Order: sequence, then C-alpha cells, then structure tokens
Amino acid sequence: MTDIQNLISQIGDLPTLPDVASRINREMQSESLNAKLLGEIIADDTALAAKVLRLANSAFYGLQKQVTTLNKAVMILGFNTVKNLALSVSIYALFKERPGSPIDVKGLWLHSLGTAVAAQIITENVYKKLGEEAFLFGILHDIGKIAFINAMPGEYEKVLVLLRDQQMPQADAEVEVIGFNHQRLGSQLLDIWKFPDNIIQAVKYHHDPELKTAKLDPQLKDLIRALFLGNQMAKALHLGLSTNPVRDEIPKIVWQSLNIKRSQLSNFAAAARSRYALLLEAWDIGSKDNG
Ligand SMILES: [Fe+2]
Ligand SMILES: [Fe+2]
Repeated sequence: MTDIQNLISQIGDLPTLPDVASRINREMQSESLNAKLLGEIIADDTALAAKVLRLANSAFYGLQKQVTTLNKAVMILGFNTVKNLALSVSIYALFKERPGSPIDVKGLWLHSLGTAVAAQIITENVYKKLGEEAFLFGILHDIGKIAFINAMPGEYEKVLVLLRDQQMPQADAEVEVIGFNHQRLGSQLLDIWKFPDNIIQAVKYHHDPELKTAKLDPQLKDLIRALFLGNQMAKALHLGLSTNPVRDEIPKIVWQSLNIKRSQLSNFAAAARSRYALLLEAWDIGSKDNG
C-alpha cells in the first residue's frame, strides 16, 4: 500500500460519488454507454434531468431551437457535451453548503465553474473538440479540498490559518498539516470513483504545469496547462472564491505549448466572464432547487 492509500484508509470518511455520475462512469468503463443509455440514466433522476435540460437550453450553448427531450439534446449538442453536463450537475451535489465548514463551499463551487469555463475557452483555441473535457477537468480540479473538509475539517482549518497568517503556499501548508496535498487526494479519489485516467492525471498535476517528470501524451499535457491557466484566470477575474486566492506564477512553457500571446488574454477573459455569467444564470444558484 502506498503512503497515500495508507492515509486514505485512515481517513475513512471519503465522500461518495453521487448516483448518476457513478452510473455514467460504470457504464463508460464497461464501454456500454451509448446515447440511449445516457438518456435513461439522466431521466431516472427527475430533478437532475430537468436541470440538464435547462442548462442545455441556456444561452451558454447558444442553440437556435429549444430542446425538450434528453434524446434531442444528445442529438444536437452531442453525446460528450450532455454526458459532461450530467456529470457536472451530479457532482454539484458534493458542493452543498456545510454548516461550520472551514471553507466557503459555494465559493469553491463558483471557482470550479469559473475554472471550467476558462479552461474550456483556452482549450477550444487549440483543440476545438476538447473544450468539454477541459470543462469537466475544471469542475473537478479542487475536489480534494471537498474530501479534506469532509474528513478533517479541523485540520483543514489549520491549513487555512497557515495560508492566511504565514502566506505559505497552499500545497506546503496541506502537506505540513495533513501529510499530502489536495491534488493527490483529489486524483486518488477520482481513481476510487473510476473516472478515466486523463482526468485523474489532470487533477494530480493541476498545480504543476511544467510537467517535467510526468509521462503523459502531449495533448493531455496541453489540456493540463489549459486547466492550470484557467484556474489562475478564475482567480484573477474573481469568478468564485478559491481557498487560496494567491495566483501561481505562469511559466513560459504554458504560453508556448498553448500558443497564446499575453495580448490575447483580455479576449479570453472577456469570453470567460460572459460565458460564466450565462452558466450561472442557467444553473440558478441560490434558488431552493439547487440540486
Ligand atoms: Fe487546486
Ligand atoms: Fe482551483
């Protein structure tokens, strides 16, 4: 057993993946997930299905005509888009406000949405078809923090004190108090939840865009760098609230491999702001039915 598995086995109280996301992952693993089955899985949860449809019809996706059924949504938006939308809505349940939580969970959800939108825009600039995948990376990138506050809110509060009072880098503060950081816990959790390897690697390396030691294919490296940049952009634009508002420095390799000039950033930022606002409106955060 590795160190982290050992620690995780001691944590015990890990969050469980909500039902719809877990069924989608299971069927994906057995390669039996098709459009029909995806529609059935989503339709089994009425509240979730309604939310997926509302999001599909939002200005975020810019459809000309309204879609009224999940099958139509899959036909028009595409299988991957609807699948990732359903995963995102299902995962949202893990970001429920917790009384006495040391972190602002809603703020972290908004930060995750902001990161998702920014990573998607940056990715689409290089790989038109991979934006959806980058979006899901953004939704899940800080899931390790949710696991931390679930299992050890007291310790995580100490981490936040170190961040605030000693301006210690986040990963160092987590390692000092807990023994490992949220990237490692998050990626381990996604492994337990049977997510595909790409997203496990993305979460693991989301604060390490140099990727010097990681043996990953070049396209995945670009996606991870887009996630990294999206995360920094969400902080810079104050989309949501990260537990660590300090931005990481952006190394040269990020600009080079994503083929972005600094002068393009303001365009990306404007696009991220407006898509984030559209998504937020469709998500209807703050209303009673926020499942
Ligand atoms: Fe992070
Ligand atoms: Fe983040």
